[in-house]
Amino acid sequence: MSTTFPLVVTPNFLDFARVNNTPLLVYQPAEVSHRYQLLKTALPYVHHHFAIKSLPIAPVITTIRDLGGYFDIATNGEIDLLRQAKVAPDHCIHTHPIKRLQDINYALAYGVNHFVVENAAEIGKFQGLGDQVVLILRVAFENNLAACNLSAKFGCAQEDCRSLIQLAQSLGLTVGGISFHVGSQMPSSKVHQQAIDWANELYLELEEEGICFSLLDIGGGFPARYTSQDIALATFLAEIKLSLDRFHSNFPDCQILSEPGRCLAAPALTLITQIVGKKYKNGQHWYYIDDGVYGSFSGHIYDHRQDTVAPLVESDKPLYSSVVAGPTCDSIDIIDAQAMLPEMEIGDYLITHNIGAYSMASASDFNFVPRANLVTFGG
Ligand SMILES: Cc1ncc(COP(=O)(O)O)c(C=O)c1O
Repeated sequence: MSTTFPLVVTPNFLDFARVNNTPLLVYQPAEVSHRYQLLKTALPYVHHHFAIKSLPIAPVITTIRDLGGYFDIATNGEIDLLRQAKVAPDHCIHTHPIKRLQDINYALAYGVNHFVVENAAEIGKFQGLGDQVVLILRVAFENNLAACNLSAKFGCAQEDCRSLIQLAQSLGLTVGGISFHVGSQMPSSKVHQQAIDWANELYLELEEEGICFSLLDIGGGFPARYTSQDIALATFLAEIKLSLDRFHSNFPDCQILSEPGRCLAAPALTLITQIVGKKYKNGQHWYYIDDGVYGSFSGHIYDHRQDTVAPLVESDKPLYSSVVAGPTCDSIDIIDAQAMLPEMEIGDYLITHNIGAYSMASASDFNFVPRANLVTFGG
């Protein structure tokens, strides 16, 4: 297994655009390997389970598998992706808090045995499987800093932890530890640190009561760097390591897991689009491009995100306030109502960096507009 950081070489995106049909998503494995290695180096005693939902494509699975990596799965389709890539099931955890019995059986048949639960009914679904499964109890950690709140829908109240652990034990089930997801795209490490410190106290109290856990899952939320205002991943990791070191020194035999999605997926893809129509209206240039919010820009709808577009070929011409709109017939399909662009022509290319997370994953075929083509740059 390689421990060196791969060199990230910038491709010539114009060459890609000229020889492939747009819209075009360029996958750069080196961007993923670089950050996965960074996670491993910054937090060496943590198993980082890539959250497949953020970018569920085979090449990413292969990249992380080849680094000896781990995976967070939520659905049977994600299991199928892992099976095709021959990922060892003991490198996987199932983190969907609500599963049908057939989903549990599907994961068990693949060999996955760690499952997240967060309520009594879900724990009940595992009755009789005591010797086959390890449960992870997801706890809610509300905060208003995250770009996407992941504690509104899932996670038990902190004060309910003990009763749920007791319920599981009364059914002969093993609770391996707790998990949380403090929210996606965190602007600082503060809430992660609070959550880890809270878990540290809880585990110390439970140890006194005779309950010893074998794992702690700190979830995802590690930020991507969409703009220079976003905290750098290395800084973020160095800060949460302070709390993790305290936990690790108290519980050296406890395996710590994480579930990063966005920080690996976002830089993995770059989108190239082409202008297919233009007009001038109410003092603004309008450009219609071949991808939109029903496609690769779906993060605008589902991920509370505003991606930016820039000319692929840099120019020093004057910039004008412009509207960039997608190809469907819906007025919601506007990517940027105030893009500052030079005057562009039909056939010109636009580029969007850092679009890998929760974009392609939630793209649709609305209006039968074809989804973007995917090509890989480099090994
Ligand atoms: C259970 C779970 N784990 C991990 C992730 C990945 O989170 P992020 O992309 O913020 O790292 C998500 C995102 O929805 C999630 O629901």
